[in-house]
Amino acid sequence: MPTVGLVTAGGDCPGTNAAIRGVVARLVTEGWEVVGVEKGWKGLMEGMTRPLTRDSVRGILGRGGTILGSSRLDPYVHGQGYESIRPTIESRGIDALVVIGGDGSLRTAARLEEEGIRVVGIPKTIDNDIGGTDVTFGFHTAVQVVTDAIDRLTTTAESHDRIMVVETMGRTAGWIAAYSGIAGGAEAILVPEVPYDLDEIASRITARHDAGRTYSLVVVAEGIPTEHGYVTTGVDSFGFERLGGAGEVVARELESRTGYEARVVTLGHLQRGGTPTAFDRVLATRLGLHAAELTLAGKSGVMVAVRGTELTDVGIIEACSHPRPLEPDVFRDAAWFFAQPGPPMSTL
Ligand code: F6P
Repeated sequence: MPTVGLVTAGGDCPGTNAAIRGVVARLVTEGWEVVGVEKGWKGLMEGMTRPLTRDSVRGILGRGGTILGSSRLDPYVHGQGYESIRPTIESRGIDALVVIGGDGSLRTAARLEEEGIRVVGIPKTIDNDIGGTDVTFGFHTAVQVVTDAIDRLTTTAESHDRIMVVETMGRTAGWIAAYSGIAGGAEAILVPEVPYDLDEIASRITARHDAGRTYSLVVVAEGIPTEHGYVTTGVDSFGFERLGGAGEVVARELESRTGYEARVVTLGHLQRGGTPTAFDRVLATRLGLHAAELTLAGKSGVMVAVRGTELTDVGIIEACSHPRPLEPDVFRDAAWFFAQPGPPMSTL
């Protein structure tokens, strides 16, 4: 019977275990073997694998993280591409890979496919920025974490006449900031895709406090450009800039413009941790089952995707060549939140 190698690569994301469970459950039902690769591409390069059975994926549906572990190592950046993984592929008798990853890991999967190994991808990222699919699992969980934080911050902020700035993850896409800001009733939302005007936001906050409100909540995506460029905290193992600190810049600017104390909460990896929402569990399960189905059918070079309520598949390269920005519809419909000229809130 054929053997499938299952890899979870890149940053972890709630729902990954549900996807693993879906893939394994479907493949073993057909009598296929599944080899779990530990610690992402690193495990494939260094031969760290373990067999996955129906029993080994019991009880993981609601667990955050990935039972297989992950890493930021990549065979093309830190090794010799396919040659680095060939010994593991051959010694374990792996006929095809299922790769659960973000855009970077899926591009790596596509390169390996070009070198001859069959690959089906499953997109995973809280950033929701992968092309070809309407949504990625992990996104709704991250939005819920940020929304819960905003709800809590609102009650403390109103006791102190403060501006609370909440910085979200998302890299160059504003999906998490936009959705959580709208859900949490933020006064303003700053995302990379929409130009913002700090004077406009400051005057809005001042008018609001003059009218008797005692707090304002501002959501800032980590990837917004500031007058000092993108705010970063160093580089990752690929040499890409690690984003973080834009919230602090915005807070200082709003404080000096309004005279109100501004405090910052950077939610960071809280957005990736913990149990996935029911929505993400269902989505990840469906995508895992669908990826197994495509693998059984001999498909390769494709990524499972959602269009409306339907599952489909798209070419990995086509889906992952550019990050998918926040769709214009979201900020057009809710323009008021983005401190843009737009309809008054009562018409939203
Ligand atoms: O891509 C997911 C993500 O959480 C981004 O939102 C964030 O910028 C980045 O990963 C953080 O990566 P790391 O965990 O390597 O610091």
